[in-house]
Amino acid sequence: MELSNVSTPSNPTVGQLIERSNTLGGDPKNTNYAGGNTSAAGVEIDPVTGEDVELLWVKGSGGDLGTLTADGLAVLRLDRMRALVDVYPGVDREDEMVAAFDYCLHGKGGAAPSIDTAMHGLVDAAHVDHLHPDSGIAIATSTDGERLTREVYGDKVVWVPWRRPGFQLGLDIAALKEANPQAIGCVLGGHGITAWGDTSAQCQKNSLWMIRTAERFVKKHSKKQPFGAPLKKYAALPARQRRERAAALAPLLRGVASQDRPMVGHFTDDKVVLDFLASRNHPRLAELGTSCPDHFLRTKVKPMVLDLAPGAPPEKARARIAELHEAYRADYADYYQRNVTPDSPAMRGADPLIILVPGVGMFSYGKDKQTARVAGEFYINAINVMRGAEGVSSYAPIDESEKFRIEYWALEEAKLQRMPKPKPLATRVALVTGAASGIGKAIAVKLAAEGACVVVADLDEAKARAAAAEIGGPDVAVGVAADVSDATAVRAMVDTAVLAFGGLDLVVNNAGLSLSKSLLETTEADWDLQHDVMAKGSFLVSQAAARVLIDQGLGGDIVYISSKNSVFAGPNNIAYSAVKADQAHQVRLLAAELGEHGIKVNGVNPDGVVRGSGIFAGGWGANRAAVYGVAEDKLGEFYAQRTLLKQEVLPEHCADAVFALCGPDLTRTTGLHVPVDSGVAAAFLR
Ligand SMILES: NC(=O)c1ccc[n+]([C@@H]2O[C@H](COP(=O)([O-])OP(=O)(O)OC[C@H]3O[C@@H](n4cnc5c(N)ncnc54)[C@H](O)[C@@H]3O)[C@@H](O)[C@H]2O)c1
Ligand SMILES: [Zn+2]
Repeated sequence: MELSNVSTPSNPTVGQLIERSNTLGGDPKNTNYAGGNTSAAGVEIDPVTGEDVELLWVKGSGGDLGTLTADGLAVLRLDRMRALVDVYPGVDREDEMVAAFDYCLHGKGGAAPSIDTAMHGLVDAAHVDHLHPDSGIAIATSTDGERLTREVYGDKVVWVPWRRPGFQLGLDIAALKEANPQAIGCVLGGHGITAWGDTSAQCQKNSLWMIRTAERFVKKHSKKQPFGAPLKKYAALPARQRRERAAALAPLLRGVASQDRPMVGHFTDDKVVLDFLASRNHPRLAELGTSCPDHFLRTKVKPMVLDLAPGAPPEKARARIAELHEAYRADYADYYQRNVTPDSPAMRGADPLIILVPGVGMFSYGKDKQTARVAGEFYINAINVMRGAEGVSSYAPIDESEKFRIEYWALEEAKLQRMPKPKPLATRVALVTGAASGIGKAIAVKLAAEGACVVVADLDEAKARAAAAEIGGPDVAVGVAADVSDATAVRAMVDTAVLAFGGLDLVVNNAGLSLSKSLLETTEADWDLQHDVMAKGSFLVSQAAARVLIDQGLGGDIVYISSKNSVFAGPNNIAYSAVKADQAHQVRLLAAELGEHGIKVNGVNPDGVVRGSGIFAGGWGANRAAVYGVAEDKLGEFYAQRTLLKQEVLPEHCADAVFALCGPDLTRTTGLHVPVDSGVAAAFLR
């Protein structure tokens, strides 16, 4: 006998559920990223008895509807799930029911059941969708949401007053459905919508009807300027200036968001944000905060709003940002104190996750780039919700005490505690120059593998982007073109880094090239080129980066890929070795100068890294091989034999040294050079 696998879409019910989920979740107007959940009840053969068994497939905790697969479904036995009603101890102890779901699982149970499982299991319908559409939440967060629900939908949709998601909410909805057999769904006050149907197609149709009907209603009945009259002084700057201003403010704001713990940032100047911030009512609405639990868990209860014209002098902006930050932290601590109960978890940090800058855009923050980006997306959802609610009524999010009950919910805390330990370089933003090839690429790969967000910079944009794409998507690595010997290009490169990930922590001066020539053969142009790229180039990069590091106030690392040749003297190397010695001394000089800002500056001295090196492939290798009288493809081995360890040095060994210098182990080390040369006595440091 072949056992059926409950988590494959071979069951048509599951196939339909996945298709419906992907359709609904694929349009951000229908629900926010990873928000909402869907379910279907159906029959399978129980492998234990050979009899039919009624099952409930429901989106598990954490997944996203748009990309949901069968693996993301929890699978429960419907009879056992519904039997929970008989042991339900009441709303005060409803959280205990989440653990009870585990006793309803079928087979291995699939994904972990979410808190919303009760709603899906208890409502008497074969197919149920719970969604967070901007239009539906607009009705749900209107002061007169209950009356509006009737006006928008007639008796086809019922109003469910706000209640924290859980078993009781599932019971409430089930009872309302029973009392209103004509209803196809409900609006959940302050939160979202739920729709149902006898077939998957009917359920999807009902969900979309609820969403589109609310959209049409808001469009038709909205007042002209839901956010109030335009504020001229907060009008959006032109695109180029907006970007420059955003890049200038980003380090300061990341410092603000990272006082309690370091954060990665995301910037957007989406029109929705700029329009909101250029309207009179934005301070009042921002203060009211977001409402849908999904939204404010990612955005914090409210954002920090800069109250300065976008062209205000930088020093004024700096001072005001510091004041607003202090006020935000005090306000958040008050909110915690006002609502804390003896069993609340400790306060998690009082820095804002969303910072709004009129005329410029929105910065959002998270423990990694994806989280930061999604927080920004959710605030845009929240702006859409506020526009809708203010358009047809007035916006009234759930009470602060209810927000607190969600934010500091024991179940939410348990989720956080279960999170895997972050990687050593998590939250750190790295910039590696010359990272499309050789040692630089190996460094970028290593830093990303250890959790950093990486900016891959190189002369050629296509190569830089290709290297970044190999490392990961845009939440992990971005590629940017920059000639490090050009000050304007270097500033633009640092701006790109700062706008991509919110700031900068770790800079690797790796870009370089090598021309092996004797004193008499070395032209002035040879000399200038090598000095421009490596001496001036790393000076320019360190300078532009240090401005960001100092503004952030979070310390940082600068690493120079210098060379054994910075201390070793041999023939035919005057320009290259002299410039490597220059770089090596920059390490010591900057370590001395930047220490007071917590910035460590260290160097790596590689030697004989043949494999993967563009320098060696581009003629230097052939030249060196000829000088030593060995075949070019044996050069790596030849170098190895000259070393104390007799081991070939690979780009990855240099990358490991960079990680050691910037990782968690050498936090008290600055001004150091680490040889990565398999041991060359003539290059020992003393
Ligand atoms: N390969 C070795 O044995 C060795 C030994 C000691 C030091 N180093 C140093 O390591 C670094 C990397 O060398 P590699 O062997 O990986 O070489 P590589 O040629 O493979 O990589 C160097 C990268 O730097 C880029 N680059 C060159 N000029 C640039 C500029 N003006 N702006 C931005 N990017 C630029 C190149 O496009 C290339 O992608 C260099 O600084 C080199 O001097 C290498
Ligand atoms: Zn919800």
